[in-house]
Amino acid sequence: MGASEAALQIFSGAFAPQFHTNLRSKFSSVCCVKSSKDRHYGCMQQNGVRILKSYIQRQRIRLESLRCKCSQAENIRGAFLEDGSGRLVNGLANDSKFQLGQHLKYEKGNLFSDDGLTAATSNVFGANSIEDEAWSLLRASMVYYCGNPVGTIAANDPSDSNTLNYDQVFIRDFIPSGIAFLLKGDYEIVRNFILHTLQLQSWEKTMDCHSPGQGLMPASFKVRTVPLDGDEDATEEVLDPDFGEAAIGRVAPVDSGLWWIILLRAYGKCSGDTSVQERIDVQTGIKMILKLCLADGFDMFPTLLVTDGSCMIDRRMGIHGHPLEIQALFYSALLCAREMLAPEEASADLIRALNNRLVAMSFHIREYYWIDMKKLNEIYRYKTEEYSFDAVNKFNIYPDQIPPWLVEWMPNRGGYLIGNLQPAHMDFRFFSLGNLWAIISSLATTDQSHAILDFIEAKWSDLVAGMPLKICYPALEGEEWRIITGSDPKNTPWSYHNGGSWPTLLWQLTVASIKMKRPDIAENAIKVAERRIATDKWPEYYDTKGARFVGKQARLFQTWSIAGYLVAKLLIANPNAANILVNVEDAELVNAFSFALTANPRRKRLRKGPKQTFII
Ligand code: GLC
Repeated sequence: MGASEAALQIFSGAFAPQFHTNLRSKFSSVCCVKSSKDRHYGCMQQNGVRILKSYIQRQRIRLESLRCKCSQAENIRGAFLEDGSGRLVNGLANDSKFQLGQHLKYEKGNLFSDDGLTAATSNVFGANSIEDEAWSLLRASMVYYCGNPVGTIAANDPSDSNTLNYDQVFIRDFIPSGIAFLLKGDYEIVRNFILHTLQLQSWEKTMDCHSPGQGLMPASFKVRTVPLDGDEDATEEVLDPDFGEAAIGRVAPVDSGLWWIILLRAYGKCSGDTSVQERIDVQTGIKMILKLCLADGFDMFPTLLVTDGSCMIDRRMGIHGHPLEIQALFYSALLCAREMLAPEEASADLIRALNNRLVAMSFHIREYYWIDMKKLNEIYRYKTEEYSFDAVNKFNIYPDQIPPWLVEWMPNRGGYLIGNLQPAHMDFRFFSLGNLWAIISSLATTDQSHAILDFIEAKWSDLVAGMPLKICYPALEGEEWRIITGSDPKNTPWSYHNGGSWPTLLWQLTVASIKMKRPDIAENAIKVAERRIATDKWPEYYDTKGARFVGKQARLFQTWSIAGYLVAKLLIANPNAANILVNVEDAELVNAFSFALTANPRRKRLRKGPKQTFII
């Protein structure tokens, strides 16, 4: 296939997955070209050969959201300079000098640009509340590609010269930003984000000559302005994704595609615009993610098998195997995808596999991940080495696995889903995001969901403490820390991922408590956050058991801390809006679940069942 034909296929949105394989090797970037001589835009091949402009013209209508809109961008800039109305960064970011908002500095309550211009201050925007300040900061974090907003950078911390990859748009970090924009009626940035990250899905991604599955979405991407080969006056903007091949620890972001599906559904539900999810390329994108997640492997469980660090906790913390966070997001993404997939003959097998997986997963998680006082006592009294189909202790769990801290910590009321590696290899730590998303997605039963919230209330001083919400509890200490984290100096006990407190989790707590009609829990947590979050300059995380210190290496002006707070406030003000994120429990799943609970395992082995069966 010639390069120009390939471009046609890519942009037509009608490509079949196998084309990606061919195309991926030919293209490493699709970019927007900007020349000071003659303003023109086009697509570039890896070697810098410009694909004929006519192809772009022919595809203009289809490309609508992916092409560069130079004149529009000019207008945006003009608009800011004239009215300074809070669309400020739109304008600045269109200028290459202000790419990614990197040149906006926050000092003494004011946002400054490089040339000393006060870009945004509390007063300029009439900020008289924490919320106003948060909105100014969120807008200042917007990232533009060819003049159009496509995401928000992870952090805009002027005090830190070593940005690492915090100047990138992280998929998971953008979710609260995207939801905040949606709830504000600002749909464009979310639409652009969805479509541009979709383009990145088909990128060539290799590490040491090995490529992961095609459906993988990047952890993050960056808009780079680079000189155009052969034209010294011209620059081009390039979307540069990181699939983990550059990320610290080289971890594959399994959660990215799952979040992408969740955001896509939220976009449709909030904006009413279902045309995005109906697009052929978007449908293909959903299917590619599902195929990757539903692919057969060696695994005996319906849960998704992943490596350590494949989610929000993106470095070694001993959560390889079947960690709860990924399972909850996976379950949610399956339900969201089922709602959006066009009913067509070709998808019938995929939908069947998806339905089987949902049933098996809900049974598996509700049964084997759940822990409360009663269950703990059951495990404590387990007999071991049982050999029979009716074994109570199916996974031969030794009661000595129960960690001493849990015996003291478990309240009489409440319970939670443990961070399991797999049923027989229990990780009893409490992981907030997985538990909250299990409520939101209805992966947990209604009773379990209430019990999780009861648990958070009972353990308020540990989990909410001085700043909501602890990422996990308790911290790994001593020898455990040394072996499991590999002596990671960033993940020392009660810091960062290892028992640190992350303000961004406030929005997920809010959605979960609104879903269970207990918004007071979120309201109380928001009050705790409001005591310090703005004066502390919106840190990424807090350290110590009681969340007393701003984290040792925490970034300030961390965008998802800002956006998480905004989403929490917006949802408390309009609880119905939480429905764009919530999955209500599916009646068919409940039936299938109760059947699975009562089924005799022996009979089940003999019965002819669906092709795909899992151990549940
Ligand atoms: C840290 C977090 C990760 C986040 C990234 C950017 O690595 O663990 O979840 O996406 O920072 O904020």
